Amino acid sequence: MSMNEREGRALLTVIVLLAVLAAGCEHPPVETVQRGYRGVGMEGVFNPRRLEDMVAANMPPAASPPAPAAGPKASEIYQNVHILGDLSVAEFTRLMAAITAWVSPEQGCTYCHDAANFADDSLYTKKVARIMLAMTQRTNEDWQAHVGKTGVTCYTCHRGQPVPAEVWATDPGPRHAKGIAPAQQNIASPTVASASLPYDPLTPFLEQDYDIRVISESALPQGSRKSIKQTEWTYGLMMHFSDSLGVNCTHCHNSRSFFAWDQSPPERTKAWHAIRQVREMNNVFINSTSDILPDTRKGPLGDPLKVSCKTCHQGAYKPLYGAQMLRDYPSLAKLSGAAKQAKTPASN
Ligand code: HEC
Ligand code: HEC
Ligand code: HEC
Ligand code: HEC
Repeated sequence: MSMNEREGRALLTVIVLLAVLAAGCEHPPVETVQRGYRGVGMEGVFNPRRLEDMVAANMPPAASPPAPAAGPKASEIYQNVHILGDLSVAEFTRLMAAITAWVSPEQGCTYCHDAANFADDSLYTKKVARIMLAMTQRTNEDWQAHVGKTGVTCYTCHRGQPVPAEVWATDPGPRHAKGIAPAQQNIASPTVASASLPYDPLTPFLEQDYDIRVISESALPQGSRKSIKQTEWTYGLMMHFSDSLGVNCTHCHNSRSFFAWDQSPPERTKAWHAIRQVREMNNVFINSTSDILPDTRKGPLGDPLKVSCKTCHQGAYKPLYGAQMLRDYPSLAKLSGAAKQAKTPASN
């Protein structure tokens, strides 16, 4: 072997080794963005390649041209409208077409309607859709501290599917497994981003209103009344937040004090309102569909499929990266008809 050949082989070996090593890394490398003061570690970490797919998956559908507000009202022409009666017939028809595209594009109008009698309420889907109309309007009118003017439409959650992809039900976890703590810990749960944390932190915090705060307010030993177990439940919920929004803890916290609100970014305040909003959605609206839904649409314990942060956000810091869909459907922005009269408990 000549000297050149030997050098060539050595070089080849190095290249092959480097290639093998590089294959084990995430490609392309992750990037970080500074979000707070220097030195406090408040950074967002993201993978630009994943971001491209995310943007593509979160494009809103194009809005149809606005319909004229003139002409007879839906309440004057139709027999069984309780919420959308104030719309003109043209606006009403446009909204029905949009709802179909957002919720049941393959099944069409007959997913909710008896084609021979549109006024008929016998399909459960139509009754659920009426509750959904009220829930959407309520969110947009009264929870702007979280959803701003961006708001939500049926598409924010449904994305062209009758049941949104990201829903949850109370999860008893795998049963009778050996060595499992009562909180169903030590099995990776997808709800907490596959960490070994309590299996279902959504029931206590996003349906019930257990206290999320665990850090003691004083340095004295008797200051803290919270256990490590409670802290793990809080941590589980926080993993769900980060995973749902595709962000690090520092999107909402300054890591030098997870507790202090005056050092937290404003996003944490939005999240505080979001928690209360989601609880209301689940208790007032979703749980009221319980008697209407067929069993096939319920969780293992018989409760309806509920809303979490992921139902809307689906991995984006703002659902659909802040697309302004609601602007084109103003009838979903305010409570109307029966939804307005039946003011929800929280607003009384
Ligand atoms: C996801 C469910 C859903 C789909 C799909 C749907 N609708 Fe509706 N539709 C409703 C609900 C809910 C009402 C009652 C609204 C109210 O009470 O204000 C309604 C009411 C109506 C009415 C009034 C009937 C009456 O006399 O009371 C008409 C007409 C109508 N829809 C037409 C359509 C058409 C046309 C399509 C397809 C392009 C369609 N809908 C798709 C849920 C749906
Ligand atoms: C915040 C998220 C969210 C929004 C916004 C939303 N939905 Fe839903 N929807 C859900 C969840 C969760 C379920 C499953 C629970 C249930 O059926 O009660 C559901 C179920 C339904 C179903 C029953 C489907 C089936 O096959 O069982 C219909 C119909 C429906 N939604 C229509 C609508 C319409 C119409 C709108 C807009 C006016 C809307 N939804 C807005 C979350 C949402
Ligand atoms: C989307 C915003 C958001 C993200 C992301 C987030 N948090 Fe939180 N966190 C909150 C909010 C809001 C509260 C307060 C909830 C309340 O008081 O009801 C909170 C509370 C906490 C608490 C309890 C503080 C106390 O007063 O006892 C801890 C600890 C915590 N978060 C840790 C984390 C960790 C660790 C992560 C990352 C895995 C994280 N958080 C991600 C919003 C967030
Ligand atoms: C019904 C749909 C919906 C649900 C469910 C939802 N969000 Fe949001 N969220 C939104 C919308 C819409 C925005 C964008 C508001 C805007 O453009 O100002 C938003 C924005 C936010 C922001 C501000 C993001 C930023 O960087 O400005 C935070 C933080 C947030 N949500 C946290 C949460 C948390 C935590 C949960 C679960 C407890 C949650 N959201 C559940 C719809 C939702």
